Amino acid sequence: MKKVVLWCGAVFCAAFIGAVIYAGESHEYTPALEKRVQDTLSQMTLNEKLAQTAGKEPVWKLLRGLTNNGDETWDGPGIKRLGVPQFFMIDGPRGVGLAKTTAFTVGMSRGASWDKDLEYRIGEAMGYEARALGANVLLAPCINILRHPSWGRAQETYGEDPYHLGVMGSAFVVGVQQHVMACAKHYAANNTEGNRFTVDVKMDERTLREIYTPHFKMTVDAGVASIMSAYNYFDGDKAGQNHHLITDVLKNDFGFKGFVVSDWVNATNNTIKAANGGMDVEMPSGAHLGMSLKRAIKSGKVPMSRLDDMVARILREKFRFITPDFQAGYDKGKVAGTEHTALAREAAQKGTVLLKNDNNALPIDKSRVKTIAVFGKLASAKNIGDRGSSDVHSPYIVTPLQGISDKVGKDVMVVYNQGLNPGEAKDAAKNADAAIIVVGMTYKDEGEGGYGLGDRLELGLHKDEVQLIKDVCSVNSRCIVIMEGGAAITVSEWKDLPEAMLMAWYPGMEGGNALADIIFGDVNPSGKLPVTFHKNADQLPHFGNKDKVLKTDYYHGYRLFDKKGLDPEYPFGFGLSYTTYKYSGLKLDKKSVGKSGKVIAGVDVANTGKVAGEEVVELYVGYKGSKVDRPVKELKGFTKVALKPGETKTVSLEVKPENLAYWDVDKNGWVIEEIEYVVYAGPCSSAKDLLSDSFKVSGL
Ligand code: BGC
Repeated sequence: MKKVVLWCGAVFCAAFIGAVIYAGESHEYTPALEKRVQDTLSQMTLNEKLAQTAGKEPVWKLLRGLTNNGDETWDGPGIKRLGVPQFFMIDGPRGVGLAKTTAFTVGMSRGASWDKDLEYRIGEAMGYEARALGANVLLAPCINILRHPSWGRAQETYGEDPYHLGVMGSAFVVGVQQHVMACAKHYAANNTEGNRFTVDVKMDERTLREIYTPHFKMTVDAGVASIMSAYNYFDGDKAGQNHHLITDVLKNDFGFKGFVVSDWVNATNNTIKAANGGMDVEMPSGAHLGMSLKRAIKSGKVPMSRLDDMVARILREKFRFITPDFQAGYDKGKVAGTEHTALAREAAQKGTVLLKNDNNALPIDKSRVKTIAVFGKLASAKNIGDRGSSDVHSPYIVTPLQGISDKVGKDVMVVYNQGLNPGEAKDAAKNADAAIIVVGMTYKDEGEGGYGLGDRLELGLHKDEVQLIKDVCSVNSRCIVIMEGGAAITVSEWKDLPEAMLMAWYPGMEGGNALADIIFGDVNPSGKLPVTFHKNADQLPHFGNKDKVLKTDYYHGYRLFDKKGLDPEYPFGFGLSYTTYKYSGLKLDKKSVGKSGKVIAGVDVANTGKVAGEEVVELYVGYKGSKVDRPVKELKGFTKVALKPGETKTVSLEVKPENLAYWDVDKNGWVIEEIEYVVYAGPCSSAKDLLSDSFKVSGL
């Protein structure tokens, strides 16, 4: 038996920060950097300072942005005489929003990989492409909590859990920042599209600290250069001018040294509040900051010290990242080149989740089939997600049908039927050795508000797709359903009909190839759900995309299911494989620890099947005897381990009491309770699959 020690969480972030050096560049905050910032600031005129605090885009460019997302950077001014470079900002979460770049699988799919090293490599590739094409800020990652699957932008984020979001988001940030600045967005509590500009989100301080912001703190710890404020109001004021959110929590408590940038156009509505609240840069132009701030500075309503702080934050990040010969050595040929498209394929493979696989319907041995029938409009659709700000114009997109056809070659006949006529679909299915149905959402069903429908109207598949599944599965027993979409889909009506089900999300430009790799067994699926799949909408919290005031509770996702004892369709963290794993021997290295100590949990994971695989090992912690209401359990660690058939590895995960604290509203601070903590380890969040042991925290 091999022994491996795999660390996760904050430790991993710290390790990466130390390694933030690419091509000899250091992105550290050093005294020399600070001196340069202060020297430059002292030479700037008032107008030069003001100009730094806003983008310089003309009105027509805003319209361009809303109509086709432009393929152009969003720019902010530089100052030649002082060597202050310009901002060139570009979206976004699934690839660089400039012409012909790599379209990766969406954030939610990458969340499903639970693979922080892969996410680091994806960030690194996007950062490279951005820089090769002249951008210096990548407007990603999106790390909003998915509190309800209806959110139109669900696909852009990584999932429903703050710890998981923080680990994946930080990995991406560190990857991107090998080359350019990253921008974690949208801070905070941006969870609906329908009312995104107007809704006033209200929550108690504990909910804010424990659920809606810890992942932002993790990106701050990872060195993120910028944070984008959200469009929504938060507790009565625009998030972008909310002093508590930006100044108290983000800057003072989290120690954020970078700049806060507004979301585009509508994130602030008051110059004095925005500036005094903590906003540093208004994009894409200065309706409230920039030269519009001059009067407030002259009248003293916004102190000069605040303007100096804004500019210092901007200069600090510009000098940290933008070298005079910024693009030297960067090869445009690498943009959507073989290395990055191979990475896009790997990402789509690792993010795909096998939800069901009765009778080993998958994988299909192509030497044993003669005809495969492929169904559904989406099988031949270039369906890579939203067409809002996260849109990516890749040079090509491999559809599922193309991926399958290319994989099987000439020896297997692939029959394609869109599924428009039930009789014809049934005939095609009857005569095939296997039937693959591709169904789900498109940009028409979900996406960013203002670019289409925005939030989802329905949580299930379209009626014609359900009918197609029923028709095809009634005549072909080897029926495989592939779903595309940004979040959980209600499947209860039809899920018993197919033998196998895959959740492919929006799998990017190489999605068709990645799916074919899985369908035909070249790749063993290893993705796990980063969100809970509900059985019905009644199990979900109130969504509220039409509400004026949206009261957001502490509980959502698996925390809510656990608390209410609800039975999900598929639990958070769930995903099957072509092999089987057995967990045993959960051991803690100590049974008692001080508040500043740590406990190492070791668990043996064995591959008990016949093929090699990668298994996501999950660790949750519960709170026995807590004097406050706490979740039944919370994710506090995870890692991915590769296992050959018959192989066992001991996986070690670290738990620190400081990460088990709750926010005490009366004390206005974190409290680590001296109680018993139950450690659960296993393949998913479902209690029946988890091993458990416990330790006590006492003293310092
Ligand atoms: C989106 C941001 C995006 C920005 C710039 C806004 O509408 O909410 O996520 O980065 O546009 O494209």
